[in-house]
Amino acid sequence: MKQVEININIHAYEAVDDLNPQQQELVNAAIDAAKSAWAPYSGFQVGAALVLENGETVIGSNQENAAFPSGMCAERVALYQAGARFPGVAVVELAIVALKKGELIAHPVAPCGACRQVFVETEHRAKKPFSLVLAGRNQIFCLDRATNLLPLAFNADEL
Ligand code: THU
Repeated sequence: MKQVEININIHAYEAVDDLNPQQQELVNAAIDAAKSAWAPYSGFQVGAALVLENGETVIGSNQENAAFPSGMCAERVALYQAGARFPGVAVVELAIVALKKGELIAHPVAPCGACRQVFVETEHRAKKPFSLVLAGRNQIFCLDRATNLLPLAFNADEL
């Protein structure tokens, strides 16, 4: 028997001002996007903003539904919108924030498992990684590749 360890590398920052200009822009766009969330059931407004290789920015916010599973996370709204509007154009970077009662949550927002699986498909399809900015009020986590959030992920190569 051999122990196998899988590590992920996270760049942690304390404030938006410590991020590079592109990341700051994306975080601000994600905060704006969160305000367009339809989240009457959870009160948890999530915003996502991504930049594509062609320079376009695409945003998303969570859209809930009285029939709960019909809702959609902010990250997937943004990624699917990017896929529909700019098919075949790779994602460069994606920022995600969440607001509770209009205020940024304290910790870096953690994407759900389904969104992580969509990150895997997005990188796999483009054959290149995209970076993530998970912004919270007191801490911001940046990852060089989104798939780092889903070790041992299932992808199309397994089919
Ligand atoms: N949500 C997102 O939009 N993204 C995440 O990363 C986590 C959760 C949404 C789904 C639901 O509308 C609300 O937040 C509470 O789970």
